[in-house]
Amino acid sequence: MCAVVAATQNAFTPRATAKAIVNVEGLRDSSLLLSGLDIEDLRSLLALASQRSCKARKVVCQKGEPGHELFIVLSGKLKVCASSAFGKEAILGLIEDGEIFGEMALIDGQERSANVIAVEDTQLLVIHRKDFLPFIEAHPKACMGLLMAMTQRLRKMDVLIEDLRFLDLKDRLAKTLRQLAQEYGRTVVGGGVRIDFKISQEELGSLVGATRENVNKQIRAWVDEGVLETSQSTLIIRQMDRLCA
Ligand code: CMP
Repeated sequence: MCAVVAATQNAFTPRATAKAIVNVEGLRDSSLLLSGLDIEDLRSLLALASQRSCKARKVVCQKGEPGHELFIVLSGKLKVCASSAFGKEAILGLIEDGEIFGEMALIDGQERSANVIAVEDTQLLVIHRKDFLPFIEAHPKACMGLLMAMTQRLRKMDVLIEDLRFLDLKDRLAKTLRQLAQEYGRTVVGGGVRIDFKISQEELGSLVGATRENVNKQIRAWVDEGVLETSQSTLIIRQMDRLCA
């Protein structure tokens, strides 16, 4: 019996192997896909799922490979990347708790559209196409949830393209730092917000469409002006107002 079925029958309570799963309501609240489902329907979906742990840096989806599974993130973070023939990486998006991925190949039957790589230890729910497609056919609210999740992603991509076209590097970087601070920020003693998400300058560059060198130049300028502080590959924003356009 899979871990999730066992956990579901046990009112989905925490166990050693399913530590990240705390309660069904919590999972539903954090997930657009699951948000419209009533608890009984959610339990029957979870009974079809298994749980998978991924260590940081593990590749969960490989671009170009066939894909038959949908993933729901229980805890942790992943990045979605495209890579060039010369090994350059562009981060297309970040995925965290409650979000889904792997739906594209699952739905259209084509190959995986991008690489998805864990950036920290991650717990996933995994649902196979043969179980998921009949479930959404029978549950219009799950189908609506899937559309909502995909619409949200399309909106983000529209903004990304708009920013790439209309903002210069300084403004794109400032905007990305503000967003990271909003999502992963912790207030720190002495004033300011620490971004609790380890991200290298190379990765920041691939998020904003710039080289590591240019990102480094702008970050150093902000550090000199007292806007930012860098400490053990985390960033502290000391003057958020200076990052606003
Ligand atoms: P799939 O193509 O099956 O495998 C790779 C997954 O990455 C894809 O499904 C989506 O779930 C996800 N993905 C692709 N593009 C993006 C993006 N721009 N932002 C976030 N996730 C994405």
